[in-house]
Amino acid sequence: MTKVALCVRGESREFSLALGESILHAAMAQGLALDHACGGVCACSTCHVKITAGLECFTEASEDELDQLDEARDTSLESRLGCQARLTKVPLSGKVEIVIPSWNVNAVREGAGA
Ligand code: FES
Repeated sequence: MTKVALCVRGESREFSLALGESILHAAMAQGLALDHACGGVCACSTCHVKITAGLECFTEASEDELDQLDEARDTSLESRLGCQARLTKVPLSGKVEIVIPSWNVNAVREGAGA
């Protein structure tokens, strides 16, 4: 298990993340609320997080994930979907930091025309 610093609305908390586990799964299992309107199937962008340390230790984003992130607000090179990003190795620094944007709102596109 890797200890992860999670910053939500300026408050820092810590949770554990196992190899192969998604950020969303780990957060929910440990009582940390992270929006996930589509249930974690890469069909919304409500689980948008920014991995500000240890990003290289997560799975690469798929085309579907990148498409969903295109719909998210305020994305950056650190942006990932919490339901898709899985830890693949422990960072040499031992440090993983994740920020949940405070404005993260339900951005489900169901029913929205293209
Ligand atoms: S919960 Fe919908 S994309 Fe992650």
